[in-house]
Amino acid sequence: MEHSPPIFHVLMILVLWTVVTAAFVGTAEGHRHNRRGSSETELEAFQYAAAGAGGCRAHVASLTDFGGVGDGVTSNTAAFAAAVSNLSKVACDGGAMLVVPAGRWLTGPFNLTNHFTLFLDHDAVILATQDINEWPIIDPLPSYGRGRDAAGGRYSNLIMGDNLTDVVITGNNGTIDGQGETWWKMFRNKELNYTRGYLIEFMYCIQVMISNITLVNSPSWNVHPVYSSQVIVSGITILAPVNSPNTDGINPDSSSNVRIEDCYIVSGDDCIAIKSGWDEYGIAFNMPSKHIVIRRLTCISPTSAVIALGSEMSGGIQDVRAEDITAINSESGVRIKTTIGRGAYVKDIFVRGMNLHTMKWVFWMTGNYGQHPDDNFDPKAIPMVQDISYSNVVAENVTMAAKLEGIPGAPFTGICIYNVTAEVVKSKKPIWNCTDVEGVSSHVTPTPCAQIPESPDRVTHCPFPEDDLPVDCVGLEECSFRRTKP
Ligand SMILES: *[C@@H]1O[C@H](CO)[C@@H](O)[C@H](O)[C@H]1NC(C)=O
Ligand SMILES: *[C@@H]1O[C@H](CO)[C@@H](O)[C@H](O)[C@H]1NC(C)=O
Ligand SMILES: *[C@@H]1O[C@H](CO)[C@@H](O)[C@H](O)[C@H]1NC(C)=O
Ligand SMILES: *[C@@H]1O[C@H](CO)[C@@H](O)[C@H](O)[C@H]1NC(C)=O
Ligand SMILES: *[C@@H]1O[C@H](CO)[C@@H](O)[C@H](O)[C@H]1NC(C)=O
Ligand SMILES: *[C@@H]1O[C@H](CO)[C@@H](O)[C@H](O)[C@H]1NC(C)=O
Ligand SMILES: *[C@@H]1O[C@H](CO)[C@@H](O)[C@H](O)[C@H]1NC(C)=O
Ligand SMILES: *[C@@H]1O[C@H](CO)[C@@H](O)[C@H](O)[C@H]1NC(C)=O
Ligand SMILES: *[C@@H]1O[C@H](CO)[C@@H](O)[C@H](O)[C@H]1NC(C)=O
Repeated sequence: MEHSPPIFHVLMILVLWTVVTAAFVGTAEGHRHNRRGSSETELEAFQYAAAGAGGCRAHVASLTDFGGVGDGVTSNTAAFAAAVSNLSKVACDGGAMLVVPAGRWLTGPFNLTNHFTLFLDHDAVILATQDINEWPIIDPLPSYGRGRDAAGGRYSNLIMGDNLTDVVITGNNGTIDGQGETWWKMFRNKELNYTRGYLIEFMYCIQVMISNITLVNSPSWNVHPVYSSQVIVSGITILAPVNSPNTDGINPDSSSNVRIEDCYIVSGDDCIAIKSGWDEYGIAFNMPSKHIVIRRLTCISPTSAVIALGSEMSGGIQDVRAEDITAINSESGVRIKTTIGRGAYVKDIFVRGMNLHTMKWVFWMTGNYGQHPDDNFDPKAIPMVQDISYSNVVAENVTMAAKLEGIPGAPFTGICIYNVTAEVVKSKKPIWNCTDVEGVSSHVTPTPCAQIPESPDRVTHCPFPEDDLPVDCVGLEECSFRRTKP
């Protein structure tokens, strides 16, 4: 391809499912030249998985082609912007992949483009700049009405996709380092005038995939798909100090058809938090989070939940399926948090298979979470929580089995708990503390509270949908390309 830099020549794309193809991309000239001119020893191979129709890209370039310098000191903000702008021109010509090679690439925030892959080589580290002046202020999310840390706008996210189709961030487990320490400090000292940026945000995007990378020390949330659909997050590692403020792992927000699998998260806040807007702003925006699958998640989060639903849920949360969840030293398993003024609903939540070790609560629901964007919330906007299923849970070394606290006059209903064993140690408080909740249980130890009584017919399961969601059917293609070594 004409604009392909000499050191990058895409050779092939292989293995689409079981069909092995050797489709050459780029111009035939380029390939023939490359294949004749390069010996195997001069080649570096890259492999990555990509979702669905997009995935493997026709054009490949390196950040160094755009003046990038990976010395950890030089700013690459302009290089990223130039690369994305340049590669956006081939979006409709098979799309492009930008390779970030080994090195430490300091940068301010940058935006992605359509039909685009950001590929982080194994020893590549994208380092977020700590120069606060490099972070533009962007509008608050319409479903929140304001920033969460402060009223008004918010700092840009480090890596942002806005109104895009078919975007991938992947690599050979390269790293994106938010260098959040300075932000946490400013946040704790109440020095910030705007809300901290997130490490990765996709807003109004469809067909997003994030895989095989490591995210460390985000200033705030790590991965935030918002107003988006068809999102896959697979095989990523997220690490932040367990006392860092609001370093949530993955937060699907007013998004649907989201699949999160094989992730390992250590964080200072919820490992996963599903949200959909805040009080009157979220009610007006009215965009739910629904059809969300979470499987094979491992979480460590001593002061927060493994999976939280809410507290911002004013567009509604429906059809969440969590399976095969492991947690060590976390505050609670799947936690529902809401409050009067949020409106909407949390319903059809299915959890099956949790292995928990060292927890404060196995089950926790909170109907009076508080925290409003302003005083204009509607006190008649009562959230509805119903049809929540938990089954096959083993929990060791827990302080309390459950604190289930609904809303007086608007109880949380349809709670089903089946096949749960919690080893409660050293509890000073009641093992089960239930108010304003209704449901059934079966095969649960220790014996649940009176509001969740043993079902008379000893139910043998709680509901869990057996159908596939559309996002379950998105296959991963193996893409590979090779380049001649510089
Ligand atoms: C950017 O794209 C144009 C073609 O659209 C190409 O001519 C040019 O070489 C590219 N720049 C770089 C640095 O690759
Ligand atoms: C993930 O990265 C590793 C190297 O760290 C590589 O061997 C593997 O093929 C990658 N997997 C996917 C699914 O891209
Ligand atoms: C990224 O795009 C958003 C929305 O289009 C814009 O507000 C922001 O300034 C852009 N950021 C950068 C670094 O260009
Ligand atoms: C993105 O899409 C939303 C909803 O369709 C629209 O309101 C907004 O103006 C778009 N933003 C940009 C930068 O195109
Ligand atoms: C990716 O790197 C992280 C951090 O070094 C490591 O914990 C994780 O196991 C690696 N993942 C893979 C798939 O190699
Ligand atoms: C916040 O605003 C005040 C007053 O304008 C200013 O002195 C301070 O530097 C700002 N803080 C940050 C972190 O930008
Ligand atoms: C059990 O949990 C307590 C905290 O409640 C913790 O201090 C202790 O280390 C845990 N024990 C084991 C064996 O993990
Ligand atoms: C009960 O839960 C355990 C632990 O998840 C699981 O191994 C077992 O198969 C479940 N039993 C039934 C009858 O579902
Ligand atoms: C049970 O929880 C309620 C709040 O839901 C709290 O007010 C009460 O003190 C708790 N009971 C005990 C005995 O801790």
